[in-house]
Amino acid sequence: MKISASYLSIKDNIEENIKRLDNSKIDYIHVDVMDGMFVPNKTLNFSIIKNILSNHTKDLDIHLMVNDVYSYIDKYAKLNPEFITFHYEVVDDPYLVIDYIKSYGIKAGISIKPNTDISVLDDLLDYVDLILVMSVEPGKGGQKFLEQTYDKLKYLKDKKKCYHYVVEVDGGVNDTNIKNLKCDIAVVGSFITNYDNYDEQIEKLK
Ligand code: DX5
Ligand code: ZN
Repeated sequence: MKISASYLSIKDNIEENIKRLDNSKIDYIHVDVMDGMFVPNKTLNFSIIKNILSNHTKDLDIHLMVNDVYSYIDKYAKLNPEFITFHYEVVDDPYLVIDYIKSYGIKAGISIKPNTDISVLDDLLDYVDLILVMSVEPGKGGQKFLEQTYDKLKYLKDKKKCYHYVVEVDGGVNDTNIKNLKCDIAVVGSFITNYDNYDEQIEKLK
């Protein structure tokens, strides 16, 4: 299982601490993008993020928690990420959005909130590169992992025999529940960044 580290809970020395994350034993940097509409909070604006991430070495995994997906895809495609993921709940035609992300040569991910039924994604399973299952309500770090996530992961694992997508879980992941997660990528924020020694925390997860 790969680890994608979210820096959402880092409050001080953000630039220096993202550099530390980039130099740690993680696989991806998870870039949470919030617009103050789809979720109440708002992230730093794009030009600041672009600056901070200008010399990153890890692949980027962008999580758009926004309503206006197209304008954010245009911006964040400039960071040349491996994945851009949007939320199923905010779009009329997910196929068009997936094609739009792929038109940049970037892998497309789709995410569902905890109360969205996993079966809404059935027709899309053959079409997306990544499915991001939210295990907390999107919007902030440090929340408690929701147990209903396990059923969704089982559902996707069973279907995966026929399809090629990667499964990612995001929210409340720690060194205890990670053992039960049947997924390809775990997003981990506060369990890593609330501690001084990032690599020590990452070792516990592995
Ligand atoms: C929540 C974000 C997550 C979150 C993960 O809305 O999408 O990426 O920051 O942080 P933890 O691991 O603290 O739940
Ligand atoms: Zn996220």
